[in-house]
Amino acid sequence: MRLRNFALERYFARWEFKAELLLCASDVEGWPMGDLLELASEDDRRRWDSLRLGYTESAGDPDLRAAVAELYERISPDDVLVFAGAEEAIFALHNVLLGPGDHAVVVAPAYQSLAEVARAAGADLTRVELHESNGWRLDLDEVRAALRPNTRLILVNEPHNPTGALMERPTFDGLVELAAEAGARLIVDEVYRFLEFDPADRLPAGADALPAGVSIGVMSKSFALAGLRIGWVATRDHDLLARLAAFKDYTTICNSAPAEVLALIALKARDQVLARSRGIVSANLPLLDEFFGRWEGTFEWIRPRGGSVGFPRLAGDLPIARFAEDLVHDTGVLILPGPIFGDEGNHFRLGFGRLNMPEALDRLDSYAARTLR
Ligand SMILES: Cc1ncc(COP(=O)(O)O)c(C=O)c1O
Repeated sequence: MRLRNFALERYFARWEFKAELLLCASDVEGWPMGDLLELASEDDRRRWDSLRLGYTESAGDPDLRAAVAELYERISPDDVLVFAGAEEAIFALHNVLLGPGDHAVVVAPAYQSLAEVARAAGADLTRVELHESNGWRLDLDEVRAALRPNTRLILVNEPHNPTGALMERPTFDGLVELAAEAGARLIVDEVYRFLEFDPADRLPAGADALPAGVSIGVMSKSFALAGLRIGWVATRDHDLLARLAAFKDYTTICNSAPAEVLALIALKARDQVLARSRGIVSANLPLLDEFFGRWEGTFEWIRPRGGSVGFPRLAGDLPIARFAEDLVHDTGVLILPGPIFGDEGNHFRLGFGRLNMPEALDRLDSYAARTLR
């Protein structure tokens, strides 16, 4: 298996801990350890203090799987397999489900591994593009046209990175129908689920929508605990889960014991944890509305409907990669140029899950006033 470089992760490797302010991070501001432990029940606090640092159950701690299952309507603890982040889940899923002779339909632009691991596993890929001119909406006709007799899976990401788009319920229902008719598995990367700006817009989970549907979840984004490296696959397809479990024996074998306990504490207190994340995002959004209102014609943006990222466009001739490079050198503010997502429309990813977003945005504002007016 030959994987191409993960452009976004290589860019972050260069800048994430060097740039002063990240205006492009996709995770919500991470919890301080002490604050998280304060959410623990007495039992869980004891569990934390007396934790033995041996190997853990390969499928994931049973209590953690039960807490994950609570996030779904039709999922039981046995339908959950815990991974080291969503990234390991994606890697395992594509490797288990795809090989030469198989075909996969993947939304684009997208978090690179969602397509790249499928390609590297030997599958033929069709990327169904989202377009700004269409409000970044998925076009079901394009998905239908992409289907082939050997299409094994359709993969979408809702809410979507990098655009912040979230499909309407009828589109989701149509997609479920299409997948069922085609005998293709629907995989939904739901790492930004629960961050819908209007909770009424929350879609059913992939794992709930279809017996063989798959949900990919993680503690990193909506739950603001990226450092735990705890993610999961939820599906009622136990044959798939068994194959994934066997694959995991060659990657991480089992999860980090401390991370599992901390994830359990967070999920048991999920209302508080999610309220904090939504609070951060909803404090930042009006500042973005004001910014993009004032800079109309220079920066164009389709307001996201969920998640913690959006994909604005720099109008004019200045290439976004050049602008981003000059911006970080001059102001210490990092944005992610669209070409990293294979985008050629001069977009950039902007993240609004961090507490210091107002300061980062201020610096972008003054830099733009100095250089773009
Ligand atoms: C859509 C999507 N899926 C998966 C991941 C991977 O999540 P993690 O790094 O927590 O494994 C990310 C991270 O940015 C993402 O945006």
